[in-house]
Amino acid sequence: MRVLGIETSCDDTGVAVYDTERGLLAHRLYSQVALHLDYGGVVPELASRDHIRKLLPLVRAVLTEAGLPGDELDGIAYTAGPGLAGALLVGAAVGQSLATAWNIPAVGVHHMEGHLLSPMLEPDPPAFPFTALLVSGGHTLLANIEGIGRYTLLGESVDDAVGEAFDKVAKLLGLGYPGGPAIEQAALKGVHGRFHFPRPMTDRPGLDFSFSGLKTAVVVALKERALNSQTVADVALAFEEAAVETLAIKCQRALDATQHERLVVAGGVSANKKLRTRLAHLADREKIKVYFPRPEFATDNGAMIAYVGSLRLQAGQREAAAFGARPRWRIEELPAV
Ligand code: KG4
Ligand code: ZN
Repeated sequence: MRVLGIETSCDDTGVAVYDTERGLLAHRLYSQVALHLDYGGVVPELASRDHIRKLLPLVRAVLTEAGLPGDELDGIAYTAGPGLAGALLVGAAVGQSLATAWNIPAVGVHHMEGHLLSPMLEPDPPAFPFTALLVSGGHTLLANIEGIGRYTLLGESVDDAVGEAFDKVAKLLGLGYPGGPAIEQAALKGVHGRFHFPRPMTDRPGLDFSFSGLKTAVVVALKERALNSQTVADVALAFEEAAVETLAIKCQRALDATQHERLVVAGGVSANKKLRTRLAHLADREKIKVYFPRPEFATDNGAMIAYVGSLRLQAGQREAAAFGARPRWRIEELPAV
């Protein structure tokens, strides 16, 4: 089965073709970072309009690269939520229209399920069951993953997502958007020990997260301090260490609870090198295996949507052409396959 995947939930237009026999045939990404840069974050209306401009040219480019006319596809998968309503509607409208034109089925994909299963696109994919840490701009959660659509939430952020904390702290430091890669880069020149930030909610039992206090700790540390480049680097480093350490402590706790031998880490923040190294150490020590998507597929992309779409289309799931969008959508509500 050959499936076209479309991702337009936020500020990336992603398109890919996944073949259940041959794997990923082609994928393209257009990032809107430059468009939103001056505003310090994503402007929803600008995002929707840019998806409209970029989506069809990307679909054409991907089909050409895959050497496939559209009517030889077996299905279309598009991100139906969660995300920005207008941006989601662009992907849904284009996906459903192409499916109607080519007389093939379409399915709406949950964006976080896309992230969750993105490591399945790698050469040595994880087997079920596993413990998952999903870390993106909108979500921070730990879950017990028993199979496709068989997800039990173990813990989640009670306030800001960890990616959101990276973005807000980057803004405080004048590092621009998106914050994650900017903080990672700035931290390379940081000196250890000049600042120390809390590891929120690690001093009590439980698997929930809280990151808004960490951001406040940065605000307090910066008060009445000149923001020279060394201070920026030192704060970036201390913040990155606090965020990574907090995530690692909670992963350890979740693995103790599930007794799983596999940990899957995905979503935009899983591109972070310190997080990868820290969790690789944890895995070595615990004699378990940790799985990540390739860095390119840690952040938003069409490949993960095409992949999840192929699983759900193969299982006979369809999205009727009368479509809407789900800006809020809980991952536990998904039907099992
Ligand atoms: O998964 P994603 O691309 O979009 C959402 O579904 O939200 O995640 C975006 C988030 C942003 O908050 C961004 O700052 C963060 O992931 N991020 C990173 C890194 N790359 C992206 N955070 C830390 N380190 C990175 N290298
Ligand atoms: Zn995402």
